[in-house]
Amino acid sequence: MHGPAYVPKTNFTRWLDKRLPIIRFVNDTITTYPTPRNLNFWYTFGGILTFMLGVQIVTGIVLAMHYVPNANLAFDSVENITRDVNYGWLLRFLHADGASMFFLAVYIHMFRGLYYGSYKEPRELLWILGVIIYILMMATAFFGYVLPWGQMSFWGATVITNLFSSIDQIVPHAGTAITTWLWGDFAVGDPTLNRFFSLHYLLPFIIAGVVGLHIWALHVPGNNNPLGIDVKGPQDTVPFHPYYTAKDSFYLCLFVLVYAIIVFYRPDFFGNPDNYIPANPLVTPTDIVPEWYLLPFYAMLRSVPQKLIGVLVLFGALATLFFVPWLDTSKVRSCRFRPLMKQFFWIFALDCVLLGYVGSQTADAAWHLGGFDLPLVWLARLGTIYYYAFFWVILPFVGLIERPKSLPQTIAQAVLGAGRSQPAPAE
Ligand code: HEM
Repeated sequence: MHGPAYVPKTNFTRWLDKRLPIIRFVNDTITTYPTPRNLNFWYTFGGILTFMLGVQIVTGIVLAMHYVPNANLAFDSVENITRDVNYGWLLRFLHADGASMFFLAVYIHMFRGLYYGSYKEPRELLWILGVIIYILMMATAFFGYVLPWGQMSFWGATVITNLFSSIDQIVPHAGTAITTWLWGDFAVGDPTLNRFFSLHYLLPFIIAGVVGLHIWALHVPGNNNPLGIDVKGPQDTVPFHPYYTAKDSFYLCLFVLVYAIIVFYRPDFFGNPDNYIPANPLVTPTDIVPEWYLLPFYAMLRSVPQKLIGVLVLFGALATLFFVPWLDTSKVRSCRFRPLMKQFFWIFALDCVLLGYVGSQTADAAWHLGGFDLPLVWLARLGTIYYYAFFWVILPFVGLIERPKSLPQTIAQAVLGAGRSQPAPAE
């Protein structure tokens, strides 16, 4: 089903092709890779993510040339980068805001996958590799946030590492021992900062490796598409280049425009002002909040009064994502043809936003509705229940009872109209 085979034209490319067929590889996996002809805007985020991973690695490497991973110097070294290093402010904000833009893109990418059923057979492993990338991204972002050694860095690290001490409730003292071992000290301190820096530098390269596997696992079955039906023949595909190289580049430019507006005009938009106060182990901020992309999980953690159960709910929510390909019992992939599932999907998207909002508020916050106070922790509980119910109850059961709309025969028929099936332009 591949496009025209690569034919080396010069003496050098013939020589190279026999020894290291790298041009052939690029030709087969990018240039002529047959791609469904109906991929929409939501399919441009995989390319955007690849770009953002590159930006984070390049800006991160240069920042590390100036950053000092020492509890006494880290905060000042970051200030020095922002104020004194040539274009240091640009590097720093590209990197800090880049993390947020990266997560924005990954959330769109994941919701797209959920909506179009891209995790379903034969793409289960592709989805699982995605979940692994997502968890690695969260760990990387958490380690990175600690590095400027501001108040939120320090206290965020303290709250999250302390989660491990809840293991004490199962095996007495084991949790405290693990936490002390993670810290390398009896509290978050210099050894903790050092190891977090080391891990923050390491993980993006591991992510890059898993992204390689992710794209490999994409190229074996080929892309899913908004209709969720299989490619039936050459009439359903176009070569990746120039069609999707052009489309992806256009949307990448729009994405970079938004990214640039934030970096140049609102660089602290995603940040927390408390992180401009140097870390102080003796003063706890009134409210410890993680970055926006971790807020829904933070809300889940705080929705349970018992710490260990809160931790299990948090990690369970992430672990659930691994089972999605087997929880969905529907024969139809795309929500376009699933009238019932589509509604539950949008409620789920709203639920994640609601959880994020609750996570951003203080633990004892409440909504004043007339004479009645609604504690937000109850919303967090409701939101957490819906999160779990969506995956473990709705996904399996709706697939069994729903009557999907009728599917088009082929992608070409749906895109070009019945009866017309134009051959792919370059094939
Ligand atoms: C660094 C992060 C990531 C990168 C660079 C990346 C890259 C890509 C690329 C280039 C594609 C093909 C283009 C597209 O469909 O947009 C893709 C597809 C896909 N990705 Fe990712 N991805 C990342 C994270 C994730 C995550 C976190 C998940 C889910 C948990 C995920 C699940 C998928 C799925 C299911 C597809 C197939 C979509 C389809 O064909 O309908 N990816 N990814």
